[in-house]
Amino acid sequence: MDRELALEIVRVTEAAALASAQWMGRGKKNEADDAATTAMRTMFDSVNMAGTVVIGEGELDEAPMLYIGEKLGTGNGPEVDIAVDPLEGTNIVAKGHANAMAVIAIADKGNLLHAPDMYMEKIAVGPNAAGKISLDDPIETTIEIVAEANNKRIRDLTVIIQERDRHQELIDRIRAKGARVKLFGDGDVGASIATALQWTGIDLFVGTGGAPEGVISAAALKCLGGEMQARLVPMNEEEEVRCRRMGLEDPRQLLHMEDLVAGDDAIFAATGVSSGEMLEGVKFLGGNLVETHSIVMRAKTKTVRYVKAHHHLDHKPYLNLNI
Ligand code: FBP
Repeated sequence: MDRELALEIVRVTEAAALASAQWMGRGKKNEADDAATTAMRTMFDSVNMAGTVVIGEGELDEAPMLYIGEKLGTGNGPEVDIAVDPLEGTNIVAKGHANAMAVIAIADKGNLLHAPDMYMEKIAVGPNAAGKISLDDPIETTIEIVAEANNKRIRDLTVIIQERDRHQELIDRIRAKGARVKLFGDGDVGASIATALQWTGIDLFVGTGGAPEGVISAAALKCLGGEMQARLVPMNEEEEVRCRRMGLEDPRQLLHMEDLVAGDDAIFAATGVSSGEMLEGVKFLGGNLVETHSIVMRAKTKTVRYVKAHHHLDHKPYLNLNI
């Protein structure tokens, strides 16, 4: 993949964040998601690549744009697979909460797991603990391994986990072992990536969330030298069939980094919509001036860039923002 692609892609996540931020706190999650999707789709037209959406807004009959199989880009450039989540945290934006972002992961054609829209059990750690953990280990063992790898006492270890009833037993066991639990409402992409960014103070991510989000997070963790392991959680016969159709003979097989994002290269970009663990959100500075904060990184070179940008919305007519 061309390295220029990384900087092109961050323009696309910026556009999605700018568009969805218009809906912050207005109680309208679908409108926020549609705005992000439309802006992302528009910006992709100018990117030099021959991309195919492998994780998107749904199947062709469910989504008018960024549907699975849709071709993106000018068609001139590298053949790539694209995973998008134009608005990770639709409820977050509707409620005006923290941690929403626009995200994209890109890899060479054939290298991203075509994860169906179902639940996935996941574990994520940063570079120190990468290669040492297993999703099959009891959580108590994982906590000991991560504490040693990160050179922390267990009482100083922070495990981030989504606040859901399905996680209550896990939360009780983590607390009984002596580690700290940091609960979040929505947005497990940012939460899992935070394990690989030392300054967040987060050591371990565990829990069950969306499978598409799992693949996108794995791309980011690959860029940062962290690790994710996962297992799909099909809830019925139809979901089992979907897993088999995507080539997984055993739908419950343990998925390693190489199964989630194959090869040695991947590009990940995210722009904050509301401030969270990893990024500051869109800030309206007065008039038509708006500030965005993004992260963009590449697995091959391990370069991580933080991009702070000032946008003049009156100069972005193609985004159709209501200004
Ligand atoms: P959406 O942006 O699609 O609303 O997803 C938000 C999210 O919190 C994801 O980050 C997470 O993977 C998933 O929802 C968890 O699903 P559920 O809300 O059903 O527990």
